[in-house]
Amino acid sequence: MVLSTGSNKIKTAIFISGTGSNLKSLIKFSKLKKSPITIEMIISNNSKAKGLRYAKIYGIKKRVFDFKNTLSEKKVINELKKDNINLICLAGFMKILSKSFIKNFKGNILNIHPSLLPKYKGLNTHERAIRNNDKYSGCTVHIVNSRLDSGKIINQKKVRINKLDTPETLAKKILVQEHKLYPAAIMKVLSL
Ligand code: GRF
Repeated sequence: MVLSTGSNKIKTAIFISGTGSNLKSLIKFSKLKKSPITIEMIISNNSKAKGLRYAKIYGIKKRVFDFKNTLSEKKVINELKKDNINLICLAGFMKILSKSFIKNFKGNILNIHPSLLPKYKGLNTHERAIRNNDKYSGCTVHIVNSRLDSGKIINQKKVRINKLDTPETLAKKILVQEHKLYPAAIMKVLSL
């Protein structure tokens, strides 16, 4: 990460596609004095994303783009540059960003993934961990590069899988940890 916080907080945009519970935890974190970021914008590819309601609740700008082609991505880039956004946090964002988009932000894009990467890149992570009788799963925050769920790992949290766990119960347990892991990852990469 090439950002230096100095005395100014890093202007951050959060990208979501769904519920936005990680978004909510990041907003709360950003309001702490020790936080090195401010959240300036919420971006979604899905106008029906539940998490978009946090824009109104917390008075944060929201924008919806379809991310279907490079033209749409260019509009996103323009919007972000206009507001001097220097950090992007993907939080349940279900679109794959193009190489050129990622290059534009020079490694300053983070993602949270619900598995212990490099295990279970992609979708249905909880089902796959249970099916393989893994003892643990968890979550990972990593830097986004052009290969899916493959960038440098910042931090991880292990979560025990119990015999009775279903993908749903495991997802819930892991989500609780995600809400702590993402702020901790931001502190780790941005604090001096
Ligand atoms: C989280 O489990 C995240 O790791 C994954 O999608 C889920 C998003 O949840 N990428 P939420 O929208 O933050 O509640």
